[in-house]
Amino acid sequence: MKILVLHGPNLNLLGTREPEQYGRETLADVNAALQVLAADLGVELTTFQANAEGSLVDAIQEARGVFDGILINPAAYTHTSIAIRDAMSAVQLPVVEVHLSNIHAREEFRRHSYVAPIAVGQISGFGVNSYLLGLRAIFSHIKKGL
Ligand code: DQA
Repeated sequence: MKILVLHGPNLNLLGTREPEQYGRETLADVNAALQVLAADLGVELTTFQANAEGSLVDAIQEARGVFDGILINPAAYTHTSIAIRDAMSAVQLPVVEVHLSNIHAREEFRRHSYVAPIAVGQISGFGVNSYLLGLRAIFSHIKKGL
């Protein structure tokens, strides 16, 4: 099983970016923790971070026929990007949406996600563990369908 992990804008700054909100782990720490779990599950994991919306759209388009599913933290694009949502609808791959912080317990504008309605589900508020729970969730979802 092959899963693509996508990290949206500003997540390259994890570790130093608003640590009270997003924790002190860096993006490299997050990816390393994901790779350990992926090895346990027997999943081949590819991780990619981009600040540009179009780069994320390209990565989603290129995932078709290569990956079995996508785990994504769209970061701020969660709340703004119809393009990212349309790309995911177009490739018809199962998607799990994750957030480090609880987006429903913050500013009003973070409560709406363009991605959530086309995702298998959303995990929000557990820090790095959101990604690990998300990987387990997409893994079992795909496995059920194989
Ligand atoms: C985030 C939440 C978003 O609202 C924010 O724009 C981010 C990070 C999270 O992981 O908690 O950049 O997706």
